[in-house]
Amino acid sequence: MTTVSVSGGSFAAYDVVVGRGLLAGAGAQIAPIARGRTVIVSDETVAMIHGPALQTSLAAAGVRSEIVAVPAGEASKSFAELERLMDRLLASGLDRKDVVVALGGGVVGDLAGLAAALYMRGIDFVQVPTTLLAQVDSSVGGKTAIDTPRGKNLVGAFHQPRLVLADIDVLATLPEVQLRSGWAEVLKHGLICDAPFFDWLAGEGADGVRGDPAALERAVVRSVEIKSAIVGEDEKEAGRRALLNLGHTFGHAIEAELGFEAAALAHGEAVALGCCMAFRFSVRQGLCAAADAERVEAVIAAAGLPSRLDQAGSFEAERLIALMAGDKKAEAGGITLVLARRIGDAFVQKSVDAGELAAFLRDEGAV
Ligand code: NAD
Ligand code: GLY
Repeated sequence: MTTVSVSGGSFAAYDVVVGRGLLAGAGAQIAPIARGRTVIVSDETVAMIHGPALQTSLAAAGVRSEIVAVPAGEASKSFAELERLMDRLLASGLDRKDVVVALGGGVVGDLAGLAAALYMRGIDFVQVPTTLLAQVDSSVGGKTAIDTPRGKNLVGAFHQPRLVLADIDVLATLPEVQLRSGWAEVLKHGLICDAPFFDWLAGEGADGVRGDPAALERAVVRSVEIKSAIVGEDEKEAGRRALLNLGHTFGHAIEAELGFEAAALAHGEAVALGCCMAFRFSVRQGLCAAADAERVEAVIAAAGLPSRLDQAGSFEAERLIALMAGDKKAEAGGITLVLARRIGDAFVQKSVDAGELAAFLRDEGAV
């Protein structure tokens, strides 16, 4: 078991605990915060598989709990589901000193976190992430949000959790595609700022994407260390935190074109493809050696993740550019991208030339 402390900025420091069998002991960790009762927010799939173990563990620690389960999937990050959830929290009688526990993937964490940020002007919440993506990324750092028809994560708040419990064993029930999707975010952390970690993920650690618990544990711990250091320096994304969006501006545009709910591409798959595109665009701009982009593509493909645009579908360059210009990172209509000088050395590039980007996207296979 490893504990990583997240601190800095204006928020209270909190621990991210990573290890095996944590769900069974979660009650004892949550009890000191929960004052005898809590509401667990989950999705219908996760509530069925892992809800009972968490409730048993809470009960053993003297904490009464009820589960509110939303439908599984991105569509639950909506105003309608947020409203239903707020109503359930109010009906449960939670007060301002109570806590909410988010048990699930990034969808549940983002939705429950936003509900906690809004409930009676903000109550504490605990993240118990059950997807690899949520363990290495979304449960840490306090970004909470829902989607609107105009884009992903456009309505939200920064609200840091009080505690994060990342149990590697819950990943055993995760569908393979979700494991691969989370692996993309793990690889992303190496690509941003840790070349030796990327080397390990490409070699000895590669078994993680096939579910090897020891490799997964090390990958989660290092990812959390990287993410928490960045969040500690730049909680509100005034600068360095934007690096965590490597692959996301391309990836979000592709997801938006396909429709967020399309089973065609999981979020992490879009990010993996976006990372490959960011490296290839960096090469085209003369910023990065072609060998690095080729290696990134090879490692991502070997993990069973998409690396070429045509693997995701057919796209129009101008539509992708319009979506990229509408990204939260875009400033005054200009496009901002996270690009790379080499593996392990990413940087933020503002005012990317739309004409060069269009030409690049056409080379990638867009029309
Ligand atoms: P998800 O929450 O939809 O989970 C994926 C699927 O796996 C769901 O069907 C879920 O029911 C199922 N599942 C979850 N855990 C399981 C388990 N242990 N066993 C079996 N099935 C399980 O998707 P996700 O990939 O975890 O999260 C994606 C979301 O996270 C997106 O909305 C994205 O915007 C958000 N996100 C947020 C941040 C952030 O910083 N807040 C960062 C990255 C991504
Ligand atoms: N996933 C990007 C961030 O947390 O900033």
